[in-house]
Amino acid sequence: MGVVDDGKVLSNIIASQQIHSEYGGVVPEMASREHERILASITTQALETADRELSDIDGIAVTAGPGLMGALLIGMNFAKGLALRYKLPFIGINHIEAHLLANFIDNDALEYPFLCLLVSGGHTQIIQVNGYDDYHILGTTIDDAAGEAFDKVARLLGLGYPGGPPVDRFARVGSAERYDFPRGLSDSGDLNFSFSGLKTAVLYTIQPMDAETRAKQTLDICASFQAAVVDTLTTKIRKAVEETEITAVTLAGGVAANSQLRSTMDDLRDAFGLELYYPDLSLCIDNGAMIAYAGWEGFRHGQSSSLDITAMPRISISSPIFTS
Ligand code: KG4
Ligand code: ZN
Repeated sequence: MGVVDDGKVLSNIIASQQIHSEYGGVVPEMASREHERILASITTQALETADRELSDIDGIAVTAGPGLMGALLIGMNFAKGLALRYKLPFIGINHIEAHLLANFIDNDALEYPFLCLLVSGGHTQIIQVNGYDDYHILGTTIDDAAGEAFDKVARLLGLGYPGGPPVDRFARVGSAERYDFPRGLSDSGDLNFSFSGLKTAVLYTIQPMDAETRAKQTLDICASFQAAVVDTLTTKIRKAVEETEITAVTLAGGVAANSQLRSTMDDLRDAFGLELYYPDLSLCIDNGAMIAYAGWEGFRHGQSSSLDITAMPRISISSPIFTS
């Protein structure tokens, strides 16, 4: 939950759902219940941190999709309730678009057009962003998303959920040369990605190991796996820069918090003269401020949604914004 004033973030309260760690992944039913349980209190916290009252708010933005239906519906209904009660303009936000626009929050120098490497738990895409609401998907994963691969590998290693942060930490001290994991579709000639072969290769490496060996090899497995993901992502973004001749590149989504992805992108920036932007870590992982910011952008562009819209779990970035 977040409060934004004139494009500036006043608060960004992220309630991580610890419960999923115990199950090694998101259990949709539990995600919904947890949303329901915390919504009112994080709204209060977000307002208090921003030093604002509900009566100060000029508009309500909410994620309309993509995502888990139950969690989306709960957020949507809560937001509609606020909009009705306070007679406020209301806007349904595309979650992917919000990740992408989050780059503007603390990067004043960012200008259109730019390329966005969007890497989250559900998506891995290279998007050409020509302007507000002008998005073209240049490449996408044909199977797992990058974040999903992190989560699955972490689960195989018993590292909990979400898997990205512990794998990232362990990879820093492991050897990336120890295992030669596949770089899916790296020679495919297009800008698509594939991570399921990598996940399977990690599974086949781990499967024959006893618990002690697995524990000893965890650091090197994390490092070798992460190197394969980062290689795959950065090879394709480099290709996208060459093909489009667009040199402004942004990262977005939870995997954009990955330290090796960031440092490899820094190297690419230096080697190829890119302008590189990535949001602060708190704006990479799912957060309310990015939704509030996207709402502010939407309202500024004269858009709003009817209270009749409903959650859209499978919507794509290239789909229209929810204006009616
Ligand atoms: O954007 P996000 O918070 O939620 C979705 O919209 O999916 O992304 C969550 C994903 C998870 O798969 C998580 O493991 C991954 O982002 N993630 C990371 C890191 N932090 C979060 N992956 C790699 N390295 C990280 N440091
Ligand atoms: Zn997300």
